[in-house]
This record gives sequence, structure tokens and C-alpha cells, in this order.
Amino acid sequence: MSTDLAALEQRAREELAFCADEAALRSWNGKFFGKQGEIAIALKDVGKLPADQRRAFGQDANRVKETLTQAFETALAQSKEQALEQSLAAEKIDVTLPGRPVRRGRLHVATRIMREITAIFAELGFQTYRSREVENDLTNFELLNMPPHHPARDMWDTFYTTIPGAILRTHTSPGQIHVMRELCPEPIRVILPGMCYRYEQITPRSEIQFQQVEGLAIGEHITMADLKGTITAFARRLFGQERQVRFRSSYFPFTEPSIEVDIDWPADDPNADRLTKGTGWLEIMGAGMVHPVVLRNGGYDPDKHSGFAFGLGPQRITMLKYAIDDIRQFWANDLRFLQQF
Ligand code: FA5
Repeated sequence: MSTDLAALEQRAREELAFCADEAALRSWNGKFFGKQGEIAIALKDVGKLPADQRRAFGQDANRVKETLTQAFETALAQSKEQALEQSLAAEKIDVTLPGRPVRRGRLHVATRIMREITAIFAELGFQTYRSREVENDLTNFELLNMPPHHPARDMWDTFYTTIPGAILRTHTSPGQIHVMRELCPEPIRVILPGMCYRYEQITPRSEIQFQQVEGLAIGEHITMADLKGTITAFARRLFGQERQVRFRSSYFPFTEPSIEVDIDWPADDPNADRLTKGTGWLEIMGAGMVHPVVLRNGGYDPDKHSGFAFGLGPQRITMLKYAIDDIRQFWANDLRFLQQF
């Protein structure tokens, strides 16, 4: 018996009506119109019919195929439109919502203080000069008036490298020799900022890696008064115009005379006692008049030229300025610390 085409059409239409989305429609299409689909199977039945009925069955089958195809295409188009409408409604942009802020980076506190310091010295006429971090015994010690076995070398515990003679600079002072040899016999007014390394015990006040800013002025008739004036102007610009500056005598092999510089700390600051150990004064740098031996090593004639030099530690200064109680925070990369500045 051949397939009842009318019943097949009826069933196909009913099932089509239940297809809720595009995937269901496509599976319906496979079920009825696929190679092994019900319509293909029905068409095979044509051979079972008596010859006089075949033509009519074929025409009927074509009509069913055509109407079902049309119904499928209409349903598919409707389903696509519906899906688009739904997604437009669900995903529409609400322009009244506030935007999400972009997270911005910031400069490291060590970079900021360094820029502040170099800007102050620029106002005082000092150019910034970069000097190498890997030095040798000659420039780090000997040319700075510290011959081998001089006990003053003990002030700077040193990182030696596997390359004979190559060491990590323990202070920025070897830059004095480089800049003098480059610029001699011109007058000099430079600062030399940069990283230094010391083979020291790490404590809340001391790191094995820290920055220094060296200052150097060379010319004719430069005196201790120029040194005092420069340092006082710098300290007041950085810490406040009302700051008092105190100079104490000290010792460095590369300066003569040598001094250490303190600033007074406001007594009403709750940290004052802790920072100044009860004295009211706080050390900020070492300094002095450039030693004649160092002047000569740099190419200058100490009978004609004189100069002053100083060396300060920006990390210690930042600790004072912001009441930071542990120097290790600077290179620990803890965002909770860094984001405060
Ligand atoms: C010097 O290094 C001398 N070269 C400074 C100088 C230059 C004197 C020119 C005269 C003329 P000192 O070792 O004191 O001096 O170090 C200078 C500053 O570096 C200190 O005041 C301190 O602020 C900083 N500093 C020294 N050691 C450390 C350390 N381990 N961690 C952090 N900061 C340090």
C-alpha cells in the first residue's frame, strides 16, 4: 500500500508548529526532507502503484513537497527574526550606566622622590649626569683617596664579581672622577643620581640596594659657604621653608673638611621623638670640600680649583617625609604600599 500523502502532510505540519527554535526547525527538515527522510521514502512508494495512478501520486507528492518547503522557510525566517529581537532586547546597551574606570598605573615612590630632588637641584643650576653602576677598585676607592688596605674602605662593604676588579659601586662618589675627567678644565655643577649596592645586613633602615644622589661643584673660589647655602636651599625646598639646617664635622676620605648635615624636625610631629631619637635633629646627608688628591685625580689643579661634594640617600629621605618605618618596602613590590603614593 502506498503512503497516505494527506496524512503525512498533516503530521509534518503539526510537528512544524511545535518547533520552538532554529535548531528544532533544522532537525524537522532533516526528518522529512533528508536523504532518508519521510518524503523520500514516500516517493519510493510510487513504484508500488498501478500505472494509471502513478502520475496523480507524483503530482500530489510534488504539491506536498512544495507546500511543506514553503511552510518550513516561513517558519525559519520567523524564528530568526524572533531570535534577533530577543537578543536585541536582552543585550541592549544602557548608555545611562556609568562607565567602568580604567585602572591607571603610577610612578614608583622612589622615582617620584628622585624627580623631586633632581627638579630642586635643576633650579639651583645643577645638571643631571648619569654614571655607571659597575665600577672597579680604582674608581670606587683608590682615586677617591682610599689606597688598598686603607681602613676607611671598611665603611663600604662591597659586592665583588667573578670578573677580577669589577665591583658594584658602593656609592655614587666614583661618578665624581668620571665627570671631572670628562669635563676638566671646565667648571662643574652636577648631580649624579643612581643605584648603589652594599654587602650589608638588611634591616628596617638598611638595604643591600638603595639610591643615592651625589652632588659635585668644581670651579674657582668655591668655598664651604657655597656648600652650606646649596644644602640649606635644597633642604628647605624639600622639607619646608621654616626648616633649620645643622652642620656637624665628620670624616670621609674624599672630602676635607667633611661634614654631616641634619635638619630639625617639628617637635609637634607625633613621629618626631622616634625619628630623631629624642634629639630633635635628623641626619640627611654626608658632604664636604673635595679633597685635593681627588681634585688632582680628576685632572684639576687644587691650587687653582676648589669644589664641594655631597651624597644623600633618597630612600631615607622618603622615609622621613612619609613616616615609612621599613626601607624593605621600597623594593618588595607590594601594591598596598605602592598605591599610597
Ligand atoms: C657615602 O656613601 C658618601 N659617598 C657620601 C658623600 C658624598 C660624602 C660626597 C661626602 C661627599 P654614606 O655611606 O654615609 O656616605 O651614605 C650616604 C647616604 O646613603 C646615607 O646618608 C644614607 O642616606 C644612604 N645609605 C647608606 N647606606 C644605606 C643603606 N644600606 N640603605 C639605604 N640607604 C643607605
